[in-house]
Amino acid sequence: MAIRRGLAPPIGSLTQMGTIRLGKRTEGRTPKIHDFVPLASLNDIVFGGWDIFEEDCYAAARTAGVLEPAQLERVRGELEAIKPMPAVFDRRYVKRLDGPNVKKGKNKRDLAEQVIADIRAFKAEHGCDRMVMIWCGSTEVYMKETAVHATIASFEKALEESDDAIPSSMVYAYAALREGLPFANAAPNLTADVPAMLQLAARCKAPVAGNDMKTGQTLIKTIIAPGLKARLLGVKGWYSTNILGNRDGEVLDDPESFKTKEESKKSALDYIFQPHLYPELYQDLCHVVRINYYPPRGDNKEGWDNIDLIGWLGYPMQLKINFLCRDSILAAPIVLDSVLFLDLAKRAGMSGIQEWLSFYFKSPMHAPEVYPEHDLFIQLMKLKNTLRYLQGEDLITHLGREYYD
Ligand SMILES: NC(=O)c1ccc[n+]([C@@H]2O[C@H](COP(=O)([O-])OP(=O)(O)OC[C@H]3O[C@@H](n4cnc5c(N)ncnc54)[C@H](O)[C@@H]3O)[C@@H](O)[C@H]2O)c1
Repeated sequence: MAIRRGLAPPIGSLTQMGTIRLGKRTEGRTPKIHDFVPLASLNDIVFGGWDIFEEDCYAAARTAGVLEPAQLERVRGELEAIKPMPAVFDRRYVKRLDGPNVKKGKNKRDLAEQVIADIRAFKAEHGCDRMVMIWCGSTEVYMKETAVHATIASFEKALEESDDAIPSSMVYAYAALREGLPFANAAPNLTADVPAMLQLAARCKAPVAGNDMKTGQTLIKTIIAPGLKARLLGVKGWYSTNILGNRDGEVLDDPESFKTKEESKKSALDYIFQPHLYPELYQDLCHVVRINYYPPRGDNKEGWDNIDLIGWLGYPMQLKINFLCRDSILAAPIVLDSVLFLDLAKRAGMSGIQEWLSFYFKSPMHAPEVYPEHDLFIQLMKLKNTLRYLQGEDLITHLGREYYD
């Protein structure tokens, strides 16, 4: 809202600020991405959502304390108009939270139908042509895929039976996909990353993307690690720790929610370093990830990384990274980008996993037969090549022999 009113530039958003090179370097064609592909305009977006707390978005933003009060005042009216719809919530899946704005239903199927009714009512009330849903709710407890998640039929039966294998986030994802809405998961939960959901996405022609937005420490990890690997520098250990004081930090203080986050944060290095191909450099890498809830720091998270490197003739070196970041400031532009690109994907007739959006996620969804791509630079190339492909432009390979023939 502040961005569309021109109160600040959209820093961090590829859809709003990014450019894309087209054709040969000699052609000088580098439009803005939003002039190249038909993205929805920020002026046409209406926001809505669900939360277990009744506060409107202005009150919630004041509580969160991320943005300056004076900045919030300038969009106060618009924020106050957004009141969360009652949530599908069960403390079993988020142990550190509880709130009053919660739906009641005879089973999980009934709750999903209520979410579908909310989606339809919102669409009618605001005259929306299209909609996208993104789960920005809390991290749920660690869960593994089970037989319940195997097919649409088994999943729907389990909804009727209110099976424990269906956390709240899955109820929302099911509702969105059934309505054919693109769905993204900003959290590390299982949510839409199970066969039943992917079958539903295919049937209802809905694109999906996830999991867990890549914002702070993992973003830096997937910038630094490809560089070390490119120079074939060995890594013996990578110790990452964070202090964080917002509500996300409080939820992650519960070991079961932390386990979900830990799994998500740990996978990147294995895939980037490929220890099976480079055992001398990366085998037995000791990778530790910690998150400590430390209220005084609020949303201004601090991440420390200590990397133990090995160079020529086996000599050890160290690299230390101290990132004093802001959790929500890093997340906002990429939540926006994911939504706009998913809307584009839907209009382009793409459904199921959108691997080209891996760029935005810590543990990118991928086809079972391929490993996930974590290298930020490969991810960006894939994203931009997908946009070129959609618009009928040549893909860029960076071969460039023609300049020297
Ligand atoms: N930088 C980031 O902010 C960032 C980066 C990557 C991933 N994430 C993930 O995104 C998620 C949200 O992060 P956040 O910082 O915005 O957390 P937050 O605690 O500020 O907000 C989450 C909101 O979800 C609500 N909620 C929880 N369960 C719900 C349910 N079943 N239905 C409706 N609302 C529900 C909570 O009441 C809360 O208001 C977390 O899983 C977090 O780990 C955040």
